Amino acid sequence: MRDVTPDNITEVFTGYFGPDTDPRFKEVMGALARHLHAFTKEVGLTHDEWRAGLKAMEWAAEITTPERNEFVLMSDVLGLSSLVDMVNSHPGATSSSVLGPFHVSDAPPIAMGADLKGDFEGEVLLVQGQVRDLDGNPIPGAKLDIWQTAPNGLYSSQDPDQDIMSFHGLMTADEEGRYAFTTVRPVEYTVPTDGPVGQILNAAGRHPWRPSHLHFIITADGCRELVTEVFPEDDPYLDQDTVFGVRRDLVMSYEPQPAGTFPEGFDLSGKVDGAWSKVNFDFKLLRR
Ligand code: BEZ
Ligand code: FE
Repeated sequence: MRDVTPDNITEVFTGYFGPDTDPRFKEVMGALARHLHAFTKEVGLTHDEWRAGLKAMEWAAEITTPERNEFVLMSDVLGLSSLVDMVNSHPGATSSSVLGPFHVSDAPPIAMGADLKGDFEGEVLLVQGQVRDLDGNPIPGAKLDIWQTAPNGLYSSQDPDQDIMSFHGLMTADEEGRYAFTTVRPVEYTVPTDGPVGQILNAAGRHPWRPSHLHFIITADGCRELVTEVFPEDDPYLDQDTVFGVRRDLVMSYEPQPAGTFPEGFDLSGKVDGAWSKVNFDFKLLRR
């Protein structure tokens, strides 16, 4: 086609697909081109703006490593990661939420009632709940891969002073689908701002903070994997998470408990003198 115009370029683009193109590829790429073309026309994108966008991508590529993926972060702050989560969610199941870059593979198995706090400062937090299916049946033996920040706001992979497995553990739910562990409260933190994503946030007048959260990946035979996070209701950033990860059903509360009431059956039983807090949070998994 030699008479390409702003009005027909999208149609011309789709006309260039080969006859054997995978139909889903055609659908996704066709829609992507349609929206990109419409966006370009809507804002009257200038050459300088187009080049700035490409430069941001180049910079992202330069600083992306296996440990730090600036493209994923860009997708996160643009709301794309969360939107993919939401369009693939199932009503009734616990919402999924962003994985983030700080998950460590092969977390050490931890027993029911285990402690993640170790020697770190802070009030003891007991987190417990049940993993069930959408009909309310418990899912015995569900695996919960758990991770969070240390009280200094850093994940183990960001902090040379922490063991790489600190605040990471893999728990197997009991025959009633129950899980329980002790830890300290995770804290809010900022996403990395020393790359193009930081510049985008800055130009948009946005802060880089995430509300504090506990991460979970929950797997069980015959169920859809759940990647999620749970957030305390009193976090100052709950309604302004820079990666849009908060959902109403992922909000929990810290329930303060008086000194001298810490229960039996935990690694820390007999070792908690002061006040402590409790979180009860149940997960609902979709059976496949
Ligand atoms: C996180 O929750 O660990 C995270 C998610 C998205 C971007 C950065 C961090
Ligand atoms: Fe996180």
